[in-house]
Amino acid sequence: MPTKIEKLKNVIGVDSILNKIQDLDILLETILSEARRVLNADAGSIYIKVDDELVVTYSQNDTKTAELKPGEKLIYNVFRIPIGTGTTSGFAAMTGDIINVRNVYDIPEGAPYGFDPYYDRKAGYRTVSTLSIPLKTNMGDILGVLQLINKKDKIGRSIAFSKEDELVAAHFATNATMALQRAQMTRAILLRMTRMAELRDPKETGTHVNRVAGYALEIYERWANRRNRPRSEIDRTRDTLRMAAMLHDVGKVAISDTILKKPGKLTDAEREIMKTHAWQGARLFTDRQSEFDEIAQQVALNHHEDWDGNGYPGQIDIMTGEPLRKDAKGRALGKRGEEIDIFGRIVSIADVFDALRSNRVYKAAWSDDDAVREIKGLAGSKFDPELVEDFISVIPSIRTVSDKFSEEPTEPTEPSTDREE
Ligand code: C2E
Ligand code: SIN
Ligand code: SIN
Ligand code: SIN
Ligand code: FE
Ligand code: FE
Repeated sequence: MPTKIEKLKNVIGVDSILNKIQDLDILLETILSEARRVLNADAGSIYIKVDDELVVTYSQNDTKTAELKPGEKLIYNVFRIPIGTGTTSGFAAMTGDIINVRNVYDIPEGAPYGFDPYYDRKAGYRTVSTLSIPLKTNMGDILGVLQLINKKDKIGRSIAFSKEDELVAAHFATNATMALQRAQMTRAILLRMTRMAELRDPKETGTHVNRVAGYALEIYERWANRRNRPRSEIDRTRDTLRMAAMLHDVGKVAISDTILKKPGKLTDAEREIMKTHAWQGARLFTDRQSEFDEIAQQVALNHHEDWDGNGYPGQIDIMTGEPLRKDAKGRALGKRGEEIDIFGRIVSIADVFDALRSNRVYKAAWSDDDAVREIKGLAGSKFDPELVEDFISVIPSIRTVSDKFSEEPTEPTEPSTDREE
């Protein structure tokens, strides 16, 4: 069994790949500040394309930063602009062309793009010159836009960007594009990992992992807001937690088909083997330097621990699965309460709620009301009671997620026969 996990880990080079998720943020911030430094631009943003809009994802502004009091952070209003003819950046994203504007308050009548002073008013800033470079792959796909604002001359006046500046900025845009492409590849590999787990386990369908991830995010966001966690932390964690939650059962790739696809109740011995999926999954994520690895490991390891200490795998050595502390029966002592990682506690509720609402080879789907009642009934024994309250208060959003990722209207999930020995 362990060799399967090791093989999987080596094949996909999981350690190095996973780190890059966190690197992307730092890399794009660095690319933006280097581009601004070289071109002497007072401000700039990187927009990422999401559906048919551009979303400001990174934003820097020296003038606004200088006005801050010590300890204050630059707050930029996260805004979206449509891709199209409205704005310079939207137009750059639509056409794939570099858009260089000498003065946004003096755009010629009839130009296919404009400037909305609303952005300046809202930011308390005066935009003059802008240079918008589309982030274009060599396949021609637009991933976003690098926008530089207010090139400064030697005495600090805003001047236009030159033709040469366009070339220099395009170089930085190429670097940003490559970083984004690598991140997309990483995401694709993670999705492939979840599919691999899915292929092995007919119960873990794509819609199931998406629902579990969606529920977990709703619970997390409620939990974090209740604790006044900063927005930036919540946004960063959402992304990581979504991927980690989708991979909660990835350790099932190490469980044999006879157990995984057994149509009916498991024997005690089979259940013990099944339980190893938690630490088998956790072993995939052993590079503790990356925040993603950290969260994915905690989720895989802890999503079957119980608040009252009766869950599994308990206090074990992640590398060997051996108990670190044993109970009277020689089994690993269960973790309890806040010993269980917060993300494990969250995914546990999300996973059980979805398992109850779904058909399984060993049970029929429960109604929404019955499933909610069951979760409430398990507050304080199986689940963290505070998190159950968070869960209850986000039930409307949970229903939205559930509708979004509903099963295809086919017959209840059947084990596929092609992989059975
Ligand atoms: P799963 O089917 O995704 O279930 C996840 C968890 O949801 C279960 O963890 C359990 O805590 C909860 N759950 C599922 N169905 C029910 C239910 O009818 N009532 C209650 N109260 N809770 C429920 P658990 O038990 O540790 O099982 C982990 C995984 O092991 C399951 O994932 C499933 O893949 C497998 N498994 C568990 N029992 C059986 C079984 O009797 N037969 C088969 N074939 N597989 C089983
Ligand atoms: C534009 O790109 O023209 C609008 C967005 C902005 O001013 O930052
Ligand atoms: C999956 O199928 O496991 C990933 C979800 C998706 O394809 O959107
Ligand atoms: C945290 O504050 O990050 C964890 C707190 C908890 O375990 O509830
Ligand atoms: Fe599980
Ligand atoms: Fe699951």
